[in-house]
Amino acid sequence: MTRNTSSSRILAIESSCDETAAAVVIDGRRVCSNVVATQHDLHEEYGGVVPEIASRAHLERILPVVRRALSEAETTLDQIDAVTAGVRPGLIGSLLVGVSMAKALAWSRGLPFIGVDHVEAHLMGGLLEAEPVEWPAVGLVVSGGHSSLYAMDGPLELSLLGATIDDAAGEAFDKAASMLGLPYPGGPRLDELAETHEGPLEGRFPVSLLKRASLDFSFSGVKTALLYAIRGTPRREGSRTVFERSIDDVSPADRAALAAEFREAVVRALIRKTTVALEQTGAKTLLAGGGVVANRLLRRELTSLCTEKNIDLRLPDMPYCVDNAAMHAAVAHERWLRGESDDLSTTAQPTTRRKR
Ligand code: KG4
Ligand code: ZN
Repeated sequence: MTRNTSSSRILAIESSCDETAAAVVIDGRRVCSNVVATQHDLHEEYGGVVPEIASRAHLERILPVVRRALSEAETTLDQIDAVTAGVRPGLIGSLLVGVSMAKALAWSRGLPFIGVDHVEAHLMGGLLEAEPVEWPAVGLVVSGGHSSLYAMDGPLELSLLGATIDDAAGEAFDKAASMLGLPYPGGPRLDELAETHEGPLEGRFPVSLLKRASLDFSFSGVKTALLYAIRGTPRREGSRTVFERSIDDVSPADRAALAAEFREAVVRALIRKTTVALEQTGAKTLLAGGGVVANRLLRRELTSLCTEKNIDLRLPDMPYCVDNAAMHAAVAHERWLRGESDDLSTTAQPTTRRKR
C-alpha cells in the first residue's frame, strides 16, 4: 500500500544508549522539535556507560522528554501520523524503554508503529533541514559502536560495503582519551586537545588499511601504539604487566601531540576507505553520520575530499551527528510512505540488521 498523501508528522523516540530523546518531524525532513536529555553526568564517574543506570534514567526521563518534544512542536497526539523508535542496535534495557513507549503510544492512539535501525538512521542526519539528495550514495557511519560503509540506492536500500573488524572509531577515540587521562565521554575532549597541538605531525601511528581493496576498518593497532607511546614498552613481572611510565609523566604539550597523532591516524584510515568506496560505487553523494562526524579534523578532511571529487557531501549539523530522535523520523517517513509499519510484537534487538 502506498499513501494517498505524502505528508507525515511523526513522533520519534531514541533510547539506544545514554541519551533519552524525542522529536516531532514533518515529512521526514522538517524538524519541529528535537529534545535530547543526556546522561553523561551519571556515567562520568564510571568512565563509561553503565547499562543498568542508563535504563533506569531512560525510564525516569522518557515521559517528560516526549511531552516536551510535543509541546515545543506545538503538536498534540491527535496530529501525529505515526510513532517510531530505534529498535536496534543498542543496550537492550535502554532500547526497551523507548520501544515500549513508542508501541504504547501507537497502540493507545491507533497509530502505526515503525521500528528503525539506529545505525542506518545516523545516515539520515545530513538530510534533516536540507534539500533532497541524488542517489546512489555512499554512507559512512562512525559512532560509539559502529564504523561502517554502505552503498545506498535510497534511504531504505543499503548494502554493507565494510565495517570495523575490532573497535568502532568512537570507541577507539574514547579509549584513547581515557589513556590520555581525559574524562568520559572522551572523544570530543581528545578532539579539543588535538586542536591545541601546534606544529607538524610526525605520522607516529600506523594507519590501518588492511588490504587496499578491503573496505573494512581496524583501530586496535593504533590504540595499542598510543598506549605504548604514553606508557613505554610493557614487561611481565610474574602475572602482572608493568609499564615504564604513567600518563602523569607525560607533559601537557606531549599529550596534545599524541592526541593529534592519534586523531590523524584514525581520520586518515576513514578518509582512505571512504575514497575507495566512492571510487568503487561511482556515487556522487556521500552521507556521513554518527557521533564521530562531530570530529573537527574528520569534518575538514571529508569536506576537502568531496570538494576535490565534486561529491555532494551531507555532513549533519552537530545536534544531528550525535544521538537524536529526529533522524529516526527520517527513516520512518520513508517506510510510512510505502504504507509499512511493524507489528506490536516487534521488540528491541542488540545488533544492527546488516552485518557481515
Ligand atoms: O552516534 P553517537 O552519539 O552514539 C552512538 O550511537 O554510539 O556516537 C558517540 C561517539 C562516542 O564514542 C564519542 O566519543 C564520539 O561519538 N564523538 C567524537 C566526537 N564527538 C563525539 N569522537 C571524536 N571526536 C569528536 N569530536
Ligand atoms: Zn548513535
